[in-house]
Amino acid sequence: MSANIQAVRGMNDILPDEAVWWRDFEARVESWLERYAYRNIRMPLVEHTQLFRRAIGEVTDIVEKEMYSWRDELNGEDLTLRPEGTASCVRAAIEHNLLYDGPKRLWYAGAMYRHERPQKGRYRQFHQYGVEALGLEGPDIDAEHIVMCAALWRDLGLEGIRLELNTIGSAEERARYRADLVRHLEANAGRLDADARRRMHANPLRVLDSKNPMVQEVVARAPALMGYLGEESTSHFDGLRRLLAAAGVPYTINPRLVRGLDYYNRTVFEWISDALGAQGTVCGGGRYDGLFAQLGGKPAPATGFAIGNERLIALLRDGARAPAIRPPDAYLLSHGDGTQEYALTLAEALRGAGYAIVQHAGGGSLKAQMRKADASGAWAALIVGTDEVRDGEVSLKFLRKAEPQYRIARAGVVAAFADALQKART
Ligand code: HAM
Repeated sequence: MSANIQAVRGMNDILPDEAVWWRDFEARVESWLERYAYRNIRMPLVEHTQLFRRAIGEVTDIVEKEMYSWRDELNGEDLTLRPEGTASCVRAAIEHNLLYDGPKRLWYAGAMYRHERPQKGRYRQFHQYGVEALGLEGPDIDAEHIVMCAALWRDLGLEGIRLELNTIGSAEERARYRADLVRHLEANAGRLDADARRRMHANPLRVLDSKNPMVQEVVARAPALMGYLGEESTSHFDGLRRLLAAAGVPYTINPRLVRGLDYYNRTVFEWISDALGAQGTVCGGGRYDGLFAQLGGKPAPATGFAIGNERLIALLRDGARAPAIRPPDAYLLSHGDGTQEYALTLAEALRGAGYAIVQHAGGGSLKAQMRKADASGAWAALIVGTDEVRDGEVSLKFLRKAEPQYRIARAGVVAAFADALQKART
């Protein structure tokens, strides 16, 4: 016997009982996005590999080792399953000249793919909602995004999600800082691990967020990026801080927060929950003013963030009751020759009027069908036998209330069903 084929490691099924949570989460997130007047955009799951190499950066975990990339031999193209959405969103904005009539506030949702080592809260296929504001340069829009996140946690009833904030200045400011940082790291190379030594020259800023305590000690004595910021970067950050204070959003400044993607400048932030273990970051983002030009577009400032659905849903589920599932309105059963055809059009008429109807399938005795009707959670069973067909009627039985069963005319079934529903509710 051949072995069963299972799902790919790190790529999960979301079964119906779990999908209830997902749908509830998605409905709440999307109503929140509407209240901030963001518009939906949908990009392909597959892009040219070069897009991510250029946008995310060659010396990042994602590009170095986490992308699902392959060569499409038919077209001779190098393609990649998207590891994130920002690069695609900016590519689409450039390709379709989306900013021609001004800035855009956009959101997207969907699966992202990273070949990471799976563990709790970290998957190879995971889902994000991404939010991007394209063409806006002031700290006001950075503040809008952060305030927006705080509002979402409130809407979702989630407490204890804290904000870490940093500014990483402009590319020029970072270049000056980088030179001094590399000097410091070189002087302490003996106390760096292999990863930090490798990154020291290729991407020294990433050494700052090393988790290794020995490397952290070296980092703690390194010069601080904050000290290298010019007037504009400083006033941008001050402006953001003023707005956050006005909105009453607390945060801590984490000077080591640099994020895992290279397109950022100035503002970067992460929202972290301590209730999730090692993978506690539920949201991350920041400003990426250089990305449009880097991808060949007309320069445009931009900022955004993405939330991790799996992690937020895990927080929502923790100790909470599952969202209510709406049971069907009626379970329709039929018994006898020629009754199925009659029942089928009856079911369609009621569905057409907006009712959720389960039509029994698979045959069986009336008694067995009635047991299914009861288990379905519906408030009514509709019964079609040969008598009902002959008389042009249908029998209605209340399943949750002691009311006598009665017949209703097929011709006025929608109105009669509405009346019965009223009765069932009183
Ligand atoms: P990111 O920090 O790589 O940023 O991902 C955002 C969020 O996605 C993380 O905070 C986390 O909640 C979730 N996430 C990331 N990787 C995984 C994984 N392997 N398993 C489960 N959840 C994961 C971005 O992707 C940027 N595009 C965000 C952004 C938008 N910046 C500007 N605009």
